Amino acid sequence: MADPQHDPQHAVELRNVVKRFGAFTAVHAMDLNVERGSFVTFVGPSGCGKTTTLRMIAGLEDATDGDIRIKGQRVNDVPIHKRNLGIVFQNYALFPHKTIYENVAFGLKYRAVDRETARKKVREALQLVQLPHLEERVPKQLSGGQQQRIALARAIVIEPDVLLLDEPLSALDANLREEMRVELKRIQRELGISTIFVTHDQSEALAMSDKVVVMSEGWIEQEGTPEQVYNQPASEFVANFLGISNIFSGQVQAVSGGIARLGLDDGPELLGHPRDGRAARQGERVRLAVRAEKVFLSESAPSDDPAAVVLDGKVTAVDYQGQAARYFVEAGPLTLQAINPIDRRPFHEGQPVKLRIRAQDVVLLDADAHQSAAAKAAAE
Ligand SMILES: Nc1ncnc2c1ncn2[C@@H]1O[C@H](COP(=O)(O)OP(=O)(O)OP(=O)(O)O)[C@@H](O)[C@H]1O
Ligand SMILES: [Mg+2]
Repeated sequence: MADPQHDPQHAVELRNVVKRFGAFTAVHAMDLNVERGSFVTFVGPSGCGKTTTLRMIAGLEDATDGDIRIKGQRVNDVPIHKRNLGIVFQNYALFPHKTIYENVAFGLKYRAVDRETARKKVREALQLVQLPHLEERVPKQLSGGQQQRIALARAIVIEPDVLLLDEPLSALDANLREEMRVELKRIQRELGISTIFVTHDQSEALAMSDKVVVMSEGWIEQEGTPEQVYNQPASEFVANFLGISNIFSGQVQAVSGGIARLGLDDGPELLGHPRDGRAARQGERVRLAVRAEKVFLSESAPSDDPAAVVLDGKVTAVDYQGQAARYFVEAGPLTLQAINPIDRRPFHEGQPVKLRIRAQDVVLLDADAHQSAAAKAAAE
């Protein structure tokens, strides 16, 4: 029954979902909405709770606490086969002795679907994954990528409410993986199917998702669009996980007009924009992050931009990357990394340079979610 408190526009809702294995908590008080038709990715290092969360949504694992809703209906006590989910897990193999046709048709067996309709649905699913001519083969006669597509066809043939994908591409080599990534996204868009995808590969998460959920030690560190997570990491964990190379400590000197003046420890001052919803208080100790792509090097050009600072520095090392170079630059006591396109001549080792850093690119970080939780627990 529809519950008016919950939005049936959400394909999946998690409210305060906890998973404990004995004394160990694998998932802490997780809240999450998956909008209908959207592609949501769980990303984070090994052991952060991605699979456990997915297994709870699937009904393969009971939640210790909290509510799991699918299309507005609470499903905590609904068994897996009644949740209408399409599931592709890394270890969720095809049946080796059944033909491709039988493998894909398998999900329809327990549904009231007559043979003709089943045939039609299987054909459509195989069309969709672009493998229409392999019906009579058995899985071992297919490549890894083809098998993965058949697993996907088997998951979508039942027209699931939600597609759950746990590292479905991880067994594939890099080229095939990239190809399948595009394929999978195409199929998801074509069907408009609400999808939760698990990966520990940040570039996969950023490339594919409407929403990225970054997890660490059973906590959500940040959720947002790929752009938000990439440009405005919430915490040091997220900044590190997404490969931000410049992270510093400092103190807020003053705040005015939405811009904070930040004194780096033993170092120069930078300007920074607090992220939406994050205030900066004068005197507050902060960690801050600047992407290497956002440290602009030049020979002279002083900035007359009031929302940027210019530092004097010296190139100490150069790492060529084709169209761009990664520079290691010393600016007083700081060592920064800068990735800049190579327009004419690259800067060379020992060369004095100006570093321009804009306020909009300096991100004030919050404490990591698990640290905040521990601090809160200690205060209680
Ligand atoms: N059945 C279980 N009993 C006890 N601990 C478990 C069980 N299943 C998972 N865990 C623990 O819960 C934590 C989260 O595991 P999970 O499999 O969800 O991680 P993950 O994010 O999917 O990692 P990976 O990227 O390696 O797949 C881990 O510390 C794991 O050891
Ligand atoms: Mg896992």
